[in-house]
Amino acid sequence: MKKQWWMETVGYQIYPRSYKDTNGDGVGDLPGIIEKLDYIARLGVNLIWICPFYKSPMDDNGYDVSDFYNVDELFGTLDDAKELIRQAHTRGIRVILDLVMNQTSDEHPWFVESRKDKVNAKRDWYIWRDGKRDKNGNRLPPNNWASFFEGSCWNYDDLTGQYYMKIFSNKMPDLNWENPELRKAMADMARWWLDLGVDGFRVDAIAHLAKETSFRDSKMKVEPGRFAPDWRKFSNRDRLFDYLAEFHDEVLTHYDCVTVGEVGGGANVEEAQRYAGFDTKGFNMVFNFDHCWKNGAFGDEGRTLGKLTTDVIDLKKTFERWILGSEGKVWMPQYWLNHDHPRVVSQYGDTEEYHRESAQMLGAVLLTLPGTPFIYNGEEIGMTNVDYTSVDDFNDVWVRNYVPSARKRISEERILTHLRRASRDNARTPMQWDDSVNAGFTTGKPHLKVVGNYKRINVRQQESDEHSVLTMYKRLIQLRLHSGMKDVLIYGKFALVQQDHPDIFAYRRFDDNSEILVIANFRDYKVNFAYEVDTYELIISNVVNFGSELLPYEFRILRAKGG
Ligand code: GLC
Ligand code: CA
Repeated sequence: MKKQWWMETVGYQIYPRSYKDTNGDGVGDLPGIIEKLDYIARLGVNLIWICPFYKSPMDDNGYDVSDFYNVDELFGTLDDAKELIRQAHTRGIRVILDLVMNQTSDEHPWFVESRKDKVNAKRDWYIWRDGKRDKNGNRLPPNNWASFFEGSCWNYDDLTGQYYMKIFSNKMPDLNWENPELRKAMADMARWWLDLGVDGFRVDAIAHLAKETSFRDSKMKVEPGRFAPDWRKFSNRDRLFDYLAEFHDEVLTHYDCVTVGEVGGGANVEEAQRYAGFDTKGFNMVFNFDHCWKNGAFGDEGRTLGKLTTDVIDLKKTFERWILGSEGKVWMPQYWLNHDHPRVVSQYGDTEEYHRESAQMLGAVLLTLPGTPFIYNGEEIGMTNVDYTSVDDFNDVWVRNYVPSARKRISEERILTHLRRASRDNARTPMQWDDSVNAGFTTGKPHLKVVGNYKRINVRQQESDEHSVLTMYKRLIQLRLHSGMKDVLIYGKFALVQQDHPDIFAYRRFDDNSEILVIANFRDYKVNFAYEVDTYELIISNVVNFGSELLPYEFRILRAKGG
């Protein structure tokens, strides 16, 4: 394995819509990110990933792009984007964009043309098929595949009487990667941004570019009237890797850039190597989702009220499987959440009594695992899930599609519990800058309500508090990037310690010269954990305690003496 600059980075993901609004329209913007670059530099990260700010009708908050070569006026101008890149670079911060290659908006000129008739030059840039009829002559989609956002993955267009494929929302038609002209257009677009100075991409929904092209029905069993969530029909398919190799040769190999693919759709460790292996023509890393659901927040669908219990053993095994499976073969990114997941302190930590301790403990794990850590904006102050009391407070397109169908099955209370745990809006509320109105995010009306706890949880308070979550994140980032332990934390090997311990996540990071032991209590009660205390010295922890019992959410980062 060759050492690369992006292995020695800590990433910070910014959701521009909710970061900082500078013109009072209630939506965060690029000038807002520029304004906060000093804050980001003080945090200590050296890479930012900014979610889409391209021109878009915002059906899916920017993942529905209508012009790849421009900035949506909600977010600013192309000049703002250039200025942001320039100013980040002067602070030693690299910038990666979200590259959306699976679909466009239905308002993109390509699709506008594609829809017009069956013979135009762009028809084949999207996936059009005839529908079917049931025995009563009712129109049915071409097959029974489900979309990620409820319902069929096809939408009927009466202009030409055909269906187009859309695995997300109706306003997000999937591109046809079988078409070489389309592939060239996407490569041109990516090169254009790299030439403009960006340092790479987080590549959106990359697992889905290739579809099973017979488009035959899935055999998965589903309730009558529902569609089959058979993601394998359009995830991680062989043909996709040809597209990636081509994209690599045409674009990536000509730049000193970094790429992180998002592979939902259940890619496993072996598949990750096909995307990003050290000897593969593809990306540099891929995000997987496997560790994100270990307390049932999603499967439960609001059935149980109150706090969910984390299956710590399962969580550890999941990390271990990925880390050991990747060692020497593929570099991993690490993250607790992104803009599609609940807030990690709400999921695996505690939002009240042990808010500080648990948020710090989660940060300590993130920043001491192998791989490049990505912090999601607000995580560094322990922002929490929403406290909304009505489903109308939510805005996400996934919620808009989910609620009507859920109402036919479950109570309003259960829907609300489920959304407060699992909705993507949990991560998308305005950044909590201070304790003034709207948490200092906007002087106008925020596009999504601020979480009520901003008076308690905000940047201003934490910047001046040496025991805050934020101060701890800064210390941990320094430890990882600039301390004498940098090498072992970045490149050292990994081994779980007491892997069957039901409450504690403990592991060693080691190389020929040194050894670090990380111990993290995932419980809101005291837990016993025996280790050879005398052979280690304490580097950082979040509470003052020298006993063999760990306090609620306590973590310790220790170094082997003499090592
Ligand atoms: C990815 C994005 C998500 C978006 C989807 C469609 O999963 O992270 O926010 O809705 O792709 O582009
Ligand atoms: Ca704004």
